[in-house]
Amino acid sequence: MGEQTPPLSLVWAALLMCSCSLIELSHADLVPSLEILPMQEVQRKPVGKSLILTCRPTVPEPALVADLQWKDNMNNTILPKPTGRNQPPMYTETLPGESLALMISSLTVEMGGKYYCTASYANTEILETSVTITTYVAITWTNAPENQYPTLGQDYVVMCEVKADPNPTIDWLRNGDPIRTGDKYVVQTHGLLIHDVQETDEGIYTCRAAVIDTGELLERTIRVEVFIQPVIVSLPATMEAIEGKPFAANCTATGKPVPEISWIRDATQLNVATADRFQVNPQTGLVTINSVREDDYGTYTCLAKNKAGVVDQKTKLNVLVRPAIYELYNVTGSRTKEIAITCRAKGRPAPAITFRRWGTQEEYSPGVQVDDVRIVLERYFDEDRGESSGTLRIANAERTDDGLYQCIAKNKGAEAFKTGHITVEFGPDFSQMKELPPVFTWDQRKANLSCLAMGIPNATIEWHWNGRKIKELYDTNLKIVGTGPRSDLIVHPVTRQYYSAYKCIATNIHGTAEHDMQLKEARVPEFVSAAVPRQLTATTITFDIRGPPTELGLPILAFSVQYKEALNPDWSTAYNRSWSPDSPYIVEGLRPQTEYSFRFAARNQVGLGNWGVNQKQSTPRRSAPEEPKPLHNPVQHDKEEPVVVSPYSDHFELRWGVPADNGEPIDRYQIKYCPGMKISGSWTELEDRCNTVDVVETTSYEMTDLNGNTYYRIELKAHNAIGYSSPASIIMKTTRGIDVIQVAERQVLSSAAIVGIAVGGVLLLLFIVDLLCCVTVHMGVMAAMCRKAKRSPSEIDDEAKLGSGQLVKEPPPSPLPLPPPVKLGGSPMTSPLDEKEPLRTPTGSIKQNSTIEFDGRFVHSRSGEIIGKNSAV
Ligand SMILES: *[C@@H]1O[C@H](CO)[C@@H](O)[C@H](O)[C@H]1NC(C)=O
Ligand SMILES: *[C@@H]1O[C@H](CO)[C@@H](O)[C@H](O)[C@H]1NC(C)=O
Ligand SMILES: *[C@@H]1O[C@H](CO)[C@@H](O)[C@H](O)[C@H]1NC(C)=O
Ligand SMILES: *[C@@H]1O[C@H](CO)[C@@H](O)[C@H](O)[C@H]1NC(C)=O
Ligand SMILES: *[C@@H]1O[C@H](CO)[C@@H](O)[C@H](O)[C@H]1NC(C)=O
Ligand SMILES: *[C@@H]1O[C@H](CO)[C@@H](O)[C@H](O)[C@H]1NC(C)=O
Repeated sequence: MGEQTPPLSLVWAALLMCSCSLIELSHADLVPSLEILPMQEVQRKPVGKSLILTCRPTVPEPALVADLQWKDNMNNTILPKPTGRNQPPMYTETLPGESLALMISSLTVEMGGKYYCTASYANTEILETSVTITTYVAITWTNAPENQYPTLGQDYVVMCEVKADPNPTIDWLRNGDPIRTGDKYVVQTHGLLIHDVQETDEGIYTCRAAVIDTGELLERTIRVEVFIQPVIVSLPATMEAIEGKPFAANCTATGKPVPEISWIRDATQLNVATADRFQVNPQTGLVTINSVREDDYGTYTCLAKNKAGVVDQKTKLNVLVRPAIYELYNVTGSRTKEIAITCRAKGRPAPAITFRRWGTQEEYSPGVQVDDVRIVLERYFDEDRGESSGTLRIANAERTDDGLYQCIAKNKGAEAFKTGHITVEFGPDFSQMKELPPVFTWDQRKANLSCLAMGIPNATIEWHWNGRKIKELYDTNLKIVGTGPRSDLIVHPVTRQYYSAYKCIATNIHGTAEHDMQLKEARVPEFVSAAVPRQLTATTITFDIRGPPTELGLPILAFSVQYKEALNPDWSTAYNRSWSPDSPYIVEGLRPQTEYSFRFAARNQVGLGNWGVNQKQSTPRRSAPEEPKPLHNPVQHDKEEPVVVSPYSDHFELRWGVPADNGEPIDRYQIKYCPGMKISGSWTELEDRCNTVDVVETTSYEMTDLNGNTYYRIELKAHNAIGYSSPASIIMKTTRGIDVIQVAERQVLSSAAIVGIAVGGVLLLLFIVDLLCCVTVHMGVMAAMCRKAKRSPSEIDDEAKLGSGQLVKEPPPSPLPLPPPVKLGGSPMTSPLDEKEPLRTPTGSIKQNSTIEFDGRFVHSRSGEIIGKNSAV
């Protein structure tokens, strides 16, 4: 804009004038001169542009022109362009027609000034002309970026630095509207100051520069976008990672533009992203560690950075390291002294250390133990180094403190264990040998006196006899085997003098102890004190035997009996039998109705004593077998009858032991079992529902088809050719069957209701039938009543029930009435139903009209409870 180009018409005019003057010169005498094209004397040119000025001689004889040159504003001759070199800022160039051009490739302010063009003509005349170059500077934006980013909340100068010569005037527009200096905006030399930048200040700003002199006007549009400094919005103050495990943490920051996050490890001041094991996402701030190491522990700085600024925040990473015990030595101390065992462990946080005795769960608490003030647990922590130690001190140690101790190192979530041994040394001790009996021997058999001394360290043992060291006696009948902690003295008692006392002396660094041992001569047992027949059958005799007095260490090993028929005088053919002590002393296989002679002796390790307690005893004649013994364990509640509980609801296996047969072999057993219950304190059973079976060659019988939750009385008799034994009797109860329980629980109310409805319905039916009978054939209860017979109402009721016979109903479980006591092995019915029992029919069933009715199939109590069901129904 600022460049002044002559209008095209002027150029044409100048050219016309030139051609006219040339024509004129060629015909007239020319005054030799030089002329510069373009022809303005003052050439106004913008800085930075290139320029050509041509100096042309106007002479009659151009060949006489010499030394045509340009001189710069310092009067230095401007040289032609040197060949092949870079183009200098200013040079001359000869043009056709004897003209010399001044070439300026880029005009600078310094180049302003007067330039001369000189030449000589015909060696006499000096020609000279000049031109003045004045420069001006066009409007240029020196510092006016087209995008600018002020920071929220700060003052900001929207830069617009302009260069122009002469100086321009600047004004500002925002979104097309002029801005004037005020509270918010201040127009400054270098730009527009915005106070307290807000996001609303964003927009398109126009910086407008104008130069009045040149009429130049230039606009610059500047887009202003407000940036926001980063803010770290979430970063935990401390973080926890577990050694060996992966770890992740977020550092979240806001800002505009979105800040870039980096993590710096404070200890090294290095960006963690440079370490292989760390990954950082600069956008989200997520830092991850593949596998945490203990030395990752420390403080870290999260840096959030954007064009508006940088913020940082610190956080601490605690690395949880599983405890590891690295030191626990076995220790040895002495009784009555202090013993301390120390355990050292590493881990983060520094682990808490405690101890417990091996095999117990209870740990020692820090400090003095409440239950044993001798024991103190001391603990030390070094949290920085992640180390701790614990020392268990036992003052005044006892032998019981000896043993394994487990050290436990615990920190968050993990535990470590190690076991060490505390050895408590103590002097020799014979306390465990105090109660030992004397040593016996006989017949010059070698005896072994064995002496064992407790003591840590192991005691050494010496033997003394009659006050002298046996070792120094060199007696070949006394031999020592072992020096401790056990030593055996083998005595060969060739003479009586060796049956004597010996002294065992044990010694270790903590002391000495003595123990006396006796060697005694052993003999066979004395006579048996007594042997009394207790039980007699046709084929067996059971004796009670009382042995002879014994010495400690020489027990009775067996009792023996010899027996023969009394008529036989020869003991050498007698029968022999031996029993170990405390077994039943039964002689079997005797003949009935025979007299026998018996004699008894006791045996110990020396041998059999003398026979004694001779006696005669006759066996009774053959008879029915003895009562068999049921092999069950009845349970007894309070003073109730003992009851055998069957594990099943519907069967029971009866087992028994074979009784003595009393001279005739047992050919069978008879089992009878009847359901029943206790009513008004007396045992009552349903005679017609009893089962009786005979079994042979067995000692067990399986009863089947039993009712659940029901009492049975079982009688067992053995039989031989002579007859039945007395019956053994037990009460057995079956368990509740599952189906019974379900029925009972689901239908407790409804079954009672059904029973009521059924009874009511039947009674109603009977009443109607009876009424009809009464009316039509004059028979039945009504008829009888009509006839005013003197009968009690209860008998009428009985008849009504007997007539029905249709009431079929599962009995509800009886409410556990225990039957009356029945003596096991006693006679069956006499003892359970004692003398107070009322009526008894010959068959053994009961008519106790006040409480019980029996209708042939069911037993009803007055309360309407059915207590048993005939298995045939
Ligand atoms: C430069 O030379 C011209 C004549 O050649 C003279 O008129 C002029 O005064 C000189 N200027 C300077 C600054 O020496
Ligand atoms: C980090 O932030 C992301 C996105 O909010 C989230 O899904 C992730 O669970 C965070 N991680 C941790 C370790 O807090
Ligand atoms: C400590 O004693 C225990 C049990 O006596 C033993 O198993 C273990 O090897 C001993 N440890 C050291 C280091 O002697
Ligand atoms: C002596 O008796 C002990 C046990 O009482 C036994 O261990 C030891 O072997 C015996 N010594 C000899 C030499 O028979
Ligand atoms: C102590 O005696 C016991 C039993 O004889 C033996 O096992 C142990 O090795 C002995 N100890 C030493 C240190 O001799
Ligand atoms: C019983 O034992 C004696 C010796 O103790 C023996 O002589 C006799 O033959 C034995 N009698 C029978 C029947 O075994």
